Amino acid sequence: MADYLPLPETHRVLQLTSIVEPLQLKTAPTPQSGPGSVVARVLAASVLSYSGDIYNGQRQYPFPQPFVPGASAIGRIVTLGPDATTLIPGQLVFLDCTIRGRDNPTGAMILSGIIEGFTEASRKLMHGEWRDSTYAEYTKFPLENCIPLDEQRLLGPVNAGGLGYCVEDLLHISRLLVPYGGLDDIELKPGETIVIAPATGPFGSAAVRVALAMGAGRVVAMGRNETALHRLCALDSRIFTVQITGNEQAETEALKRHGPIDVFFDISPPMAVDSTHLKSVIAVLKHGGRISLMGGVRGDLSFPYAAFMQRNLSMKGTFMFSREQILSFVKLIQSGLLPLGEKGGLSVGGKFGLEKWEEAFEEARVAGTGEVVAIVP
Ligand SMILES: NC(=O)c1ccc[n+]([C@@H]2O[C@H](COP(=O)([O-])OP(=O)(O)OC[C@H]3O[C@@H](n4cnc5c(N)ncnc54)[C@H](OP(=O)(O)O)[C@@H]3O)[C@@H](O)[C@H]2O)c1
Repeated sequence: MADYLPLPETHRVLQLTSIVEPLQLKTAPTPQSGPGSVVARVLAASVLSYSGDIYNGQRQYPFPQPFVPGASAIGRIVTLGPDATTLIPGQLVFLDCTIRGRDNPTGAMILSGIIEGFTEASRKLMHGEWRDSTYAEYTKFPLENCIPLDEQRLLGPVNAGGLGYCVEDLLHISRLLVPYGGLDDIELKPGETIVIAPATGPFGSAAVRVALAMGAGRVVAMGRNETALHRLCALDSRIFTVQITGNEQAETEALKRHGPIDVFFDISPPMAVDSTHLKSVIAVLKHGGRISLMGGVRGDLSFPYAAFMQRNLSMKGTFMFSREQILSFVKLIQSGLLPLGEKGGLSVGGKFGLEKWEEAFEEARVAGTGEVVAIVP
């Protein structure tokens, strides 16, 4: 703990000035905590497979400029606001990038370091108090976004009752949490059969692991890439695969071989707007089937209205997850029911200092779906 105190006057940050310029390493005044906030030393921050496309403008994510980009991270609390009641300096925490307006939690929500959201209220959050994120030595975060982690259990040696993870392994929490939000929202139950599509991307394959840990009886993973599907299959005997071929009828026939489908989890990226899987899975959902939509599709899609009405289907969109869901998810991790590291087929694809951000983004772009890439400021 002493290593992190007191706060230096300045610290190193990565700054985005404009989407047409590369990020720059700068020295800036260290943030200060006040009521409702903490300042944490960033130990490892997540990099998304498409971070490069976010900050070069290709994904058209709105954010203030200039700002310090970032994502969810693992940090150690250094200073706290006077209204903190349980968090303490030195504590290891998960820094959740989902920042909500305290007076408007459903109407104002940003992803710190990534996107300013879609309402005026959200914009206000990211253009003001919560502008800068975790690609920095220190970061200021809301108290409620600091989720305590049991350091002894997670990082302690296996022969002393720990799980033996390294700090960077814990970044998998941020990826696995995304599908947990949607799967918890549609109440995936032990023993149920779920189709996950596409299951071959980083968040899609995370959904496969989370569904297994939540007790799914059968996980049908869909994707175009056969090799990636085969790799997924090797994780667990409850995983089966169906390829997305563009032939809706053939996909439907292949899905039918897996019996009644209870749940469909969709995590399509924007490029999959015309993919056939949406309709082929809806065609096989059982009466009362539930659908979770968590993808990044921007365009409008048509869907079989009559199938929804006749089979009492329901569809729920989920953006990220709630604080309650993070707390229950961390229990899943700390219990060991959802293993990280080698046991869970999850690894750290690379660790990069702030100055190596370009390499970090490239590594994340090409990394395997079970790998996380970390920025370690
Ligand atoms: N709701 C939320 O809170 C939330 C949070 C985080 C992310 N997201 C969204 O989730 C999306 C998926 O994330 P990800 O990391 O798993 O994947 P990704 O890296 O964005 O995209 C790769 C995945 O999409 C598939 N794919 C690409 N083009 C396709 C096409 N034309 N037709 C069908 N499948 C296609 C790939 O399948 P193959 O390997 O088979 O080609 C692979 O499974 C993101 O793009 C993001 O927008 C949502």
